[in-house]
Amino acid sequence: MVKERIFSGMQPSGRFHLGNYMGALENWVKLQHEYECFFSIVDLHALTSSYADTSKLQDNVREMAIDWLSAGLDPESNTIFVQSHVKEHAELCLLLGMSTPLSWLERVPTFKDKIQQLSTQGKDLRTYGFLGYPVLMAADIMLYKATRVPVGEDQAAHLELTREMVRRFNSLYHVDLFPEPQAVYSKAKTLPGIDGRKMSKSYGNTIPFGASPKELQERINMMITDPERIRKTDKGHPDVCIVYQFQKVFNTEESENICNMCKNGEIGCVQCKRKLGEKMNALLADIHLRRTELEKKPDYIKEILDEGAKKAQAVASKNMAEIKKAMNIY
Ligand code: AMP
Ligand code: TRP
Repeated sequence: MVKERIFSGMQPSGRFHLGNYMGALENWVKLQHEYECFFSIVDLHALTSSYADTSKLQDNVREMAIDWLSAGLDPESNTIFVQSHVKEHAELCLLLGMSTPLSWLERVPTFKDKIQQLSTQGKDLRTYGFLGYPVLMAADIMLYKATRVPVGEDQAAHLELTREMVRRFNSLYHVDLFPEPQAVYSKAKTLPGIDGRKMSKSYGNTIPFGASPKELQERINMMITDPERIRKTDKGHPDVCIVYQFQKVFNTEESENICNMCKNGEIGCVQCKRKLGEKMNALLADIHLRRTELEKKPDYIKEILDEGAKKAQAVASKNMAEIKKAMNIY
């Protein structure tokens, strides 16, 4: 049976956190054996907002590869590669840009928001490259004729635009070259950070994905609990407690029991945090170990990314030839 094809990507923009894992990567790990998967570290996309300082780019790419492998993405059964290593991504982005109406790009909901948001960090995103972000993303997906795209719900508008671009290309050049890709949303809800807001690098409230057991417990100990609870015997309100939200995600079986004990003043916050630490550690300790091992093997990481680029390139150049033929460029 021929497997359907998946394409997905993530920007290498700094230390990966548990929110990224729960929101995206965990889903990829589940899908990897069911589909033919291309997973790309999209460094060109990272440049659309971090063009002015590229000094950390190589480190971030390597770290991301280590995160993916330590989470359990299998480089044998998937194609794992760096976007800029396959030049056809840039080429297709240029060709698609010719026929993409400006109005489609300007109306992407995140476009103006992100310009605003990042201007407060001193970044000027009024650039050609940033406007074209969704065109590059469409090129990524179309280059492999992917039919499924696992992403977070925040990417829905980008994916809808890809579908419009597919229809436009097929109709302009009278071909049936590209399938309309479907989103595969992960079921996980947004994970809160240790302060209760969305876990995000820009809030400084994350739990790093490769956290050591000690670092993990320290971050848990910083979580805000019910402010009205002073003594262990005080009756608690789990619904306002961040630790309880984490218990529900990472300690599902015990969480109801813990909730009742807290409400009755039968378990203290210190003990509750320790229980959570043990559960999360059971999940993350292996990942931390694998991460530590992989960090010692930069040559192995390079080999995997080189091999991935070769596999991706083979598909990309074949499809690119068809695309150019349809456009009468040869
Ligand atoms: P970002 O680091 O914001 O570019 O996000 C990369 C991926 O991780 C996207 O698919 C997001 O939907 C997902 N993600 C980021 N933060 C969270 C979070 N706190 N909870 C769940 N998913 C997240
Ligand atoms: N825009 C995506 C994000 O920020 C990353 C991305 C780039 C992507 N190209 C893609 C995701 C192609 C899926 C398919 O999360």
